[in-house]
Amino acid sequence: MSNVTVITVDGPSGTGKGTICSRLAYFLKWNFLDSGALYRVLAIAAERNQIKREDELVQLVDQLDVKFNINDIESMAEVFFDGEVVTDVIRSETCGKAASVIAPIAAVRKALLTQQRAFCKEPGLIADGRDMGTVVFPNAKLKIFLTANIEERAKRRFKQLKQGGISVNLRHLYTEIAERDKRDSTRNVSPLKPAEDAIVIDTSTLDVKGVMEEILKLVVDRVPNLSRQVVDYLR
Ligand code: DC
Repeated sequence: MSNVTVITVDGPSGTGKGTICSRLAYFLKWNFLDSGALYRVLAIAAERNQIKREDELVQLVDQLDVKFNINDIESMAEVFFDGEVVTDVIRSETCGKAASVIAPIAAVRKALLTQQRAFCKEPGLIADGRDMGTVVFPNAKLKIFLTANIEERAKRRFKQLKQGGISVNLRHLYTEIAERDKRDSTRNVSPLKPAEDAIVIDTSTLDVKGVMEEILKLVVDRVPNLSRQVVDYLR
């Protein structure tokens, strides 16, 4: 595997991974991978191409052209699929559900490994997902696992969807998140769990700045050549 420095941030949805990772990538001027977006885009591509068979789905993975762009430190990454902006489309609960149905397919996960590892380029990579530290980038320099209680995660997701103009019921969202957690953590292939060498941060009572600070303190320890830049942020 390459010598490029990778920081992985794993955890269930609603723990603030997306916000934290795009900020980190923007701040460090590193590459960014939202692996959940790849599963979501694949779900859309499968629907558009009316793909039902597993071998066709795997073939589709090889053709996936997904790119990310972060405009400023406050913004979430924009997601491009074949050049089309799909940032909002892939955030719908329907798409999330479809992604979580294809995510347990071992052949799909295997095919997506190459796609995900292709984002690992100089000067470094921030990888956001469920199995970044356990499977995709086992040699990552720093592995973070974010958690938060389910009520807080449902509230955050609710707020995020509302801001994006998507109306949902909070109770319904709570149930959906609980079901998805169960599916993600009990599946046989790459279940959601912290890597043995991951550092677990509970974000239930922390705001974005608080989580950034916790992570950047760890970055100073593990990635010495970045220390100066990071210390400036922490000041
Ligand atoms: O993080 P997210 O909600 O965008 O992820 C969408 C789905 O994809 C979710 O059900 C979990 C799955 N996923 C996964 O299995 N492995 C990853 N590395 C990222 C996401």
